[in-house]
Amino acid sequence: MISKVIDLRSDTITKPGQAMREAIAHAEVGDDVFAEDATAKHLQERVAALLGKEAGLFVPSGTMGNQVSIKSHTNPGDEVICEKESHCFHYEGGGPALLSGVQLRSLRGKRGTITVEEIKPALRPADHHFPRSRLIVLENTHNRAGGAIFSLETMANIYDFAKSNGLAVHLDGARLWNAHIATGIPLSEYGKYVDSASLCFSKGLGAPVGSVVVGSRDFIDRAHRFRKIFGGGMRQIGILAAACLFALDHNLQRLKEDHDNAHELAGFLTSCEGISVDLEATQTNIVIAHFEKMPAAEFAERCMKKNLLCIPFSAQSVRFVTHLDVYRSDIQEAMNIIESIIKAR
Ligand SMILES: Cc1ncc(COP(=O)(O)O)c(C=O)c1O
Repeated sequence: MISKVIDLRSDTITKPGQAMREAIAHAEVGDDVFAEDATAKHLQERVAALLGKEAGLFVPSGTMGNQVSIKSHTNPGDEVICEKESHCFHYEGGGPALLSGVQLRSLRGKRGTITVEEIKPALRPADHHFPRSRLIVLENTHNRAGGAIFSLETMANIYDFAKSNGLAVHLDGARLWNAHIATGIPLSEYGKYVDSASLCFSKGLGAPVGSVVVGSRDFIDRAHRFRKIFGGGMRQIGILAAACLFALDHNLQRLKEDHDNAHELAGFLTSCEGISVDLEATQTNIVIAHFEKMPAAEFAERCMKKNLLCIPFSAQSVRFVTHLDVYRSDIQEAMNIIESIIKAR
């Protein structure tokens, strides 16, 4: 018998089920470049309302959501403050420099969080020698920090500080849904303390494609122009937006299951000799395990041979992500596989 592959590499690997495909098949569509796609409009309005913002814009990816936002907030030569392990600093191909002509000032945070105390000294004086500090980018939840949640209180302090100093705040909220479900804090509360946010549907929510950027009407108007310039203006996107709406209706509340599964796995991993997990950071659906005795690549390779997939995150750490297509029984099986690997070594 061929055993099931348990894929814990990422929450982006989920495949649309039959009901989501039905929603896609029945979607009302129009040419979105002419702003005639009713389903996309509905999605944009709904996400904007959830975050308490005036308008929303569908974009094909979280990366484009962040990049059109950075472009819409800045001018070339400006400086953008972000956290050292953030997605926009690590994984967006140098997009801010390439597409917006800005430089990133990355600050080392704790579990993905930076504070006003850390941002304050990084602010550039109003002197022509310096770049102009213009934007702060936050990430909630934080991928490289193991799905850690950025506290609302810290976000509020940063927002107040930014407003007093003429800076904008953008939130990479690719997994803000997870923060919302884990904390019970309404999305509109998070929305209060940012000028713009980008939320993904193709991660924990399980849609095949799509993110929505939200902000003021003026901001979204600028973002709309840059989306077109960056090649993200698409036509009958209602078929994609329908999957996102379906995901919002059916897959949001169940994120708690992913969090419970991640906690179960994290607890088990910490009980294994030679493995540690920062349990304080493990607040949502990501688990980063540190290996004292085995290189991460070797561990991942051994797991793969037993049909368990995970991603080496650094030389000594491995990332596991729980998602829609992973059940509690899969987590049990994953733990059995890991135990057998540790014992065999
Ligand atoms: C925190 C965060 N932001 C942005 C992105 C980019 O999303 P996409 O892969 O859709 O470009 C990711 C992708 O995993 C992410 O983890």
